[in-house]
Amino acid sequence: FPVENIRNFSIIAHVDHGKSTLADRLLEITGTIPKVPQNQQVLDRLQVERERGITVKAQTASLIHTHNGQSYLLNLIDTPGHVDFHYEVSRSLAACQGVLLLVDANQGVQAQTVANFTLALESDLAIVPVINKIDLKAAQPEVVAHQMNSIFGISTDEILKISAKKGTGVWDILTAVIERIPPPKADASQPMKALLFDSWYDQYRGVIANIAVGDGVITKGEKVVCMSSKKVYEVHEIGFMHPTPLAVEALYAGQVGYIITNMRNTEEAQIGDTFCHERSDVQAHPGFRPAKAMVFAGLFPSDQSEFVALRSAVERLTLNDSSVSLHSDSSPALGQGFRMGFLGLLHLDVFCQRLEQEFNTSFIVTSPNVPFKVKVKGAKNIKEHGGSEVTILNPCHMPNPSVIEEYQEPMVKGTIICPDQYLGSVTSLCLDRRGLIEDQLNIDNTRIMLIIRFPLNEILVDFFDDLKSVTSGYASFDYEDAGYEISSLVKVDFMLNGSVVDELAMICHTTRARDTARRVCEKLRETIPRQQFGIIVQGAVRSKILAREDIRPFRKDVTAKCYGGDISRKTKLLKRQAEGKKKMRKIGNIDVPKDAFIKVLKR
Ligand code: GTP
Repeated sequence: FPVENIRNFSIIAHVDHGKSTLADRLLEITGTIPKVPQNQQVLDRLQVERERGITVKAQTASLIHTHNGQSYLLNLIDTPGHVDFHYEVSRSLAACQGVLLLVDANQGVQAQTVANFTLALESDLAIVPVINKIDLKAAQPEVVAHQMNSIFGISTDEILKISAKKGTGVWDILTAVIERIPPPKADASQPMKALLFDSWYDQYRGVIANIAVGDGVITKGEKVVCMSSKKVYEVHEIGFMHPTPLAVEALYAGQVGYIITNMRNTEEAQIGDTFCHERSDVQAHPGFRPAKAMVFAGLFPSDQSEFVALRSAVERLTLNDSSVSLHSDSSPALGQGFRMGFLGLLHLDVFCQRLEQEFNTSFIVTSPNVPFKVKVKGAKNIKEHGGSEVTILNPCHMPNPSVIEEYQEPMVKGTIICPDQYLGSVTSLCLDRRGLIEDQLNIDNTRIMLIIRFPLNEILVDFFDDLKSVTSGYASFDYEDAGYEISSLVKVDFMLNGSVVDELAMICHTTRARDTARRVCEKLRETIPRQQFGIIVQGAVRSKILAREDIRPFRKDVTAKCYGGDISRKTKLLKRQAEGKKKMRKIGNIDVPKDAFIKVLKR
């Protein structure tokens, strides 16, 4: 294929607007896959993707299409469509020259449509606007076209109207891809240079990397260098995804395909890296923004004897998702486990679901938190903390407040689109989450778009559910990283009869301290069984007590019901009580069952 006959493109859309259905139709009408009714979303390969109907990992396929008597190679680069995966979207877009911007004819422009459009615009891509699902009874293609015009400045006659489900208008999409999206700027006579834009781990074949060849030719059997690490690899196999791997002898300038080398894990296959030949002096592709974990949670086996099984399950899953960060962690209450970092909440959800599905182990995930930052003062303290700025992933590691000069918390820029009758309730929900409304615009005479600055910590728990419930399900939400902001934070400690329970410490905004203290104290009162002496449960910031609960003394006489002289039954019951105590953790002289920790810490 001469470079002029190659097109590299992606489909970008809000969740459920039909991206995978359209991809399937494109594969079918180009004969890449046979047309059979059960061709349900070939590109969504993971079980969780099928179940949740969302794309998690980007998949790529090459299609061949004849247009005006000429054969074209169309590389469809699939992108995940969900809020947490901006990073994966942007890296997939780097391999494209254009996108299909897909919008549902009934739902209209949604928060992720806006986010994805912005990414495509920033990457200078040709944008082909498409309205999907025109077969729906409730379809309003004219209204949606008007929205696209008013938000994106897209002229309404550029918009293609299709039904991916029925196949209506899908041919026109192929024509538009060829006519409106430019071919890649690539030159086969230049030294080889290829962009690595995705990678995954295959149990049998090792690391498979997706590459877009910029210039030159990359051939099976030759040696290539990864520019960031300078490591040399041998090309064991190279080919197209059609949509399953189809090996060839070489990939040429402008082509997109896969490569298998002697890389051992996906960490070596750094997304955004450039492959070149040895002793080549080509310029590397500009580096990508590395994936940054913003949501952290602890992961523990329900039973310590399952730790090894959990570890191997987690290790296998992270092999395929290098954006999950993983450290071992241990808690006196929950035992040995892990501290894991995720790109966002959905990423955490998807990970847990995969863990459950693929490995069948039972585990506890702790309530998520964000990386706070503090600035410490005094040369001695700075030295002790390895710098003036300290990132805090675990509340126990918070320096003493007397040495802290400034607290900072991560912020996000959120976009909400909803019908305007919900403006009042959405605004009050956002204010309640310490959101600051930065902008508000009318998309048309029934819908509004709000741009809100939130502390990330405030949207970690139930925000999306609450938003859905105050808008009867009509709001869409998307967010992106917006850096750190100075904040007023405190560490809330919990005490049982005056002994601090380290693993329950929490960091929160000053205004949330009292609520947090009350909530946790109440849960502890409910879950810690009465003992022979009274227990005072307290939540405090430094020495100031914010909440208190009392657990009255009580001796649980397990043998009370066994009057009479059945001594063997009595000893059996006493033995069982003693075994129960083994599962407890002693804080001072108080036995705290593991359940109490789980109840407070669990998500
Ligand atoms: P993500 O992978 O999460 O981004 O979702 P998606 O955009 O890939 O959506 P998907 O293709 O899974 O489609 C979502 C739902 O819309 C499915 O139930 C499809 O059957 C349905 N759908 C897609 N296209 C059409 C269409 O043209 N008409 C109708 N009526 N339904 C459609």
